[in-house]
Amino acid sequence: MGTADKSKRVLSGIQPTGNLHIGNYLGALLQWVRFQDQYDAYYCVVDLHAITVPHDSALLRAHTLEVTALYLAAGLDPQRATIFVQSPNPAHAEMAWLLTCLTPLGWLNRMTQYKDKAAKQQVDAVNAGLLGYPVLMAGDILLYQAHEVPVGDDQKQHVELTRDIAERFNRQFGEVFTVPEPVIPTVGARIMGLDDSTAKMSKSAEGRFHSIGLLDDPDKVRKTIMRAVTDSQQGIVFDPQRPGLYNLLTIYQALTGLGNAEIEAHFAGKGYGDLKKELAEVVIAEIEPIQTRYQELTADPAYIDEVLRHSVEQLRPIADATMDAVRRAMGHR
Ligand code: AQP
Repeated sequence: MGTADKSKRVLSGIQPTGNLHIGNYLGALLQWVRFQDQYDAYYCVVDLHAITVPHDSALLRAHTLEVTALYLAAGLDPQRATIFVQSPNPAHAEMAWLLTCLTPLGWLNRMTQYKDKAAKQQVDAVNAGLLGYPVLMAGDILLYQAHEVPVGDDQKQHVELTRDIAERFNRQFGEVFTVPEPVIPTVGARIMGLDDSTAKMSKSAEGRFHSIGLLDDPDKVRKTIMRAVTDSQQGIVFDPQRPGLYNLLTIYQALTGLGNAEIEAHFAGKGYGDLKKELAEVVIAEIEPIQTRYQELTADPAYIDEVLRHSVEQLRPIADATMDAVRRAMGHR
């Protein structure tokens, strides 16, 4: 734990595109919970990002509440962090437009997430919003003048783009934006699919045994881990050349906090069955209290509404001040 510096602001978000998985938890949420005691922390449910791929309106509404409840259930505390939804504040969309007009197309065409997500859709189905996704993200970060952005490895490129956009704006129109830094966890920054260790674990992946959802029941967790793809070699060791095993050990390490040597010693002489059984119990022990709290929270939707209503009020002055400065700097009235 570093020392607290409440003058430093952190901001991050997750798309309400489905059941959050253990990758979202280890790559993002776990750091966020720690940071709420160290920094002035802002965590957003980015429902405007969620419409950059085809979506169902009723599902989006349900997932937005589900993700907000999961933030709280995982340990984010509205007394210590500002938890909010993106779409109620139109400044996010306005900022995205202003920054879009400052961002070279070539920068966006290079983004790997865009290329990956576009490749999964019919060419005609890819909307312009998917290309603009990182600019909307840059707008979220810059609107609140965040210093640090805790994200998983896949979002690092987008935070770097945010830095480029902020620097370009500041050079062209005057120093308005804080230039943010990405913060990537040392363990768990890229959890891979359990059914395919070459693909990042993702909410939108289709395989039934691809991911472990934070709301999965113990039986599903056990089944998914027992079926996880590994190899035919012996020995439980951290070897990046054995990606399936490496992924399981990474999840184990991120949840237990043990070092490589300790883990290897613990599993010396044991096999995949032992590792998988133990990992399943470690995962279940981590997510069960989250699920209990989630059930309590969703039984009281008025509480979640109140948290979100309060945060909109808290955030408006910060967003308004940045928007004012940006509009003026760009020549608008
Ligand atoms: N597999 C992962 N390992 C570690 N961190 C991850 N994150 C996502 N997947 C992993 C981190 O979780 C945060 C929220 O991600 P997001 O929902 O905004 O978008 P994403 O990165 O595109 O996540 P998904 O789960 O793959 O969602 P879909 O399928 O909807 O696109 C980010 O900090 C991300 O780095």
